[in-house]
Amino acid sequence: MSQNRDGFTSTFGVLVATLGSAVGLGNIWKFPYLTGTNGGASFLVVYLLATLLVALPVMMTEIMLGRASRANAVTAFEKLAPKNQKFWTVIGYMGLVSAILILAFYTGVAGWVFAYIFKSLSGSIHSTDPATAKAAFDAMVSNPMQALFWQWVVLGGAGVIIMLGVSKGIEAVAKKLMPLLFLLLVLLCIRSLTLPGAMAGVEFLFAPDFSKITAPVVLTAVGLAFFKLSIGMGTMLTYGSYFRQEQNIPATATRVMLADLSVSMLAGLAIFPAVFAFGFEPSAGPSLVFMTIPAVFASMPLGNVFMAIFFVLAAIAATGAILSILEVPVAMMSERFGFSRKLATLISVGIIGLFGVPAMLSSSLTADWKLFGLNAFDLFDFISSNILLPLGGILICLFVGWVYGLPQLKKQLSNEGQLNNGLLINAVFVLVRYVTPIIITVIMLRGLGLF
Ligand code: TRP
Repeated sequence: MSQNRDGFTSTFGVLVATLGSAVGLGNIWKFPYLTGTNGGASFLVVYLLATLLVALPVMMTEIMLGRASRANAVTAFEKLAPKNQKFWTVIGYMGLVSAILILAFYTGVAGWVFAYIFKSLSGSIHSTDPATAKAAFDAMVSNPMQALFWQWVVLGGAGVIIMLGVSKGIEAVAKKLMPLLFLLLVLLCIRSLTLPGAMAGVEFLFAPDFSKITAPVVLTAVGLAFFKLSIGMGTMLTYGSYFRQEQNIPATATRVMLADLSVSMLAGLAIFPAVFAFGFEPSAGPSLVFMTIPAVFASMPLGNVFMAIFFVLAAIAATGAILSILEVPVAMMSERFGFSRKLATLISVGIIGLFGVPAMLSSSLTADWKLFGLNAFDLFDFISSNILLPLGGILICLFVGWVYGLPQLKKQLSNEGQLNNGLLINAVFVLVRYVTPIIITVIMLRGLGLF
């Protein structure tokens, strides 16, 4: 089957498509709101450490496993593990669960972004007043029909794009958007940083108060690092399976990490100065971006137009990420069960839509459905980001460090000796064999309050 798998058509295309998966609501929405609720600068420091020591090595090895096996996340481990070690395919199945849980809320938030495109144009969110902004956001999320309608628009759209196939669908969408989104974020930053009182936001983002770091905060940072780089559940593995043989995996992963980080930092710098300038609450939670971004645009000329463009770009970025997550169940069902891509897409979208209902009604009809004190929206996020992705990361590290082994890793990451990166590979090996799995295990146990 591997000969006729669709693939990315150029080295640059690979970079852009991988970025298209990494950059999304994780950068624009989740990173700012979690930084806001978890103490600002100190959270940022932990997040940076988690990205370098934990997420980056996992990202490299995950992409590598995909390219080495040229298969979906379940078949990959069947192909690469010794015959008597079927156990490792559990990583792929966990990824299937994560994909569904993540998309159940992610497509909903993407739906809010779509809704905000129209609200920008109508002028109904054109305000710098925190109370007005909150009322507009609450009106949207607490209206069950609105919340569900937009989620279904997103799911339907993503399904159609996925059915068109990997290189055409994903590459075409991802390629065009990145530079524009980047530019608009820069513009937002400039406006936000020049607002009176902006410095308090800069301080919030860069002057750490380390007393705010607790075990759950650290776990959240690790979860966010996984979420933002799309790792721990087979997305990067699946993407890796479409990588060209001559692609430099460590370099690509590092570039994607850096680009992803800069988009997040820009989002942070666009949002926090404005939060303090206008008197928003940094710890507002999931609504933070939807209240603050309109306020920044409202304080610039042609604000409505720029705001609509911003939300269009954010919607496209979110769609790129959604496609990459959807690709996991679709590739798995079509390659393992022989379903057509169309059928696999329909089934996936249907299941996600079902899980999406309680998640998106968490501010209205299902607000009282709680488990461990979390509503469905928060619960799906917590289980996927803070448990399943890091757990997937541990297993990927253990697989590469103890089963796959150094000789194979060297062969793969050096492109059969063509790249001169032996030192780096040794470092990655030590990290994934010992350091990363131990760090994640300790953080998970402490973060979940298990010891
Ligand atoms: N990284 C994307 C974002 O930040 C979301 C995403 C895409 C993702 N693929 C993933 C998250 C796989 C977890 C796992 O928006």
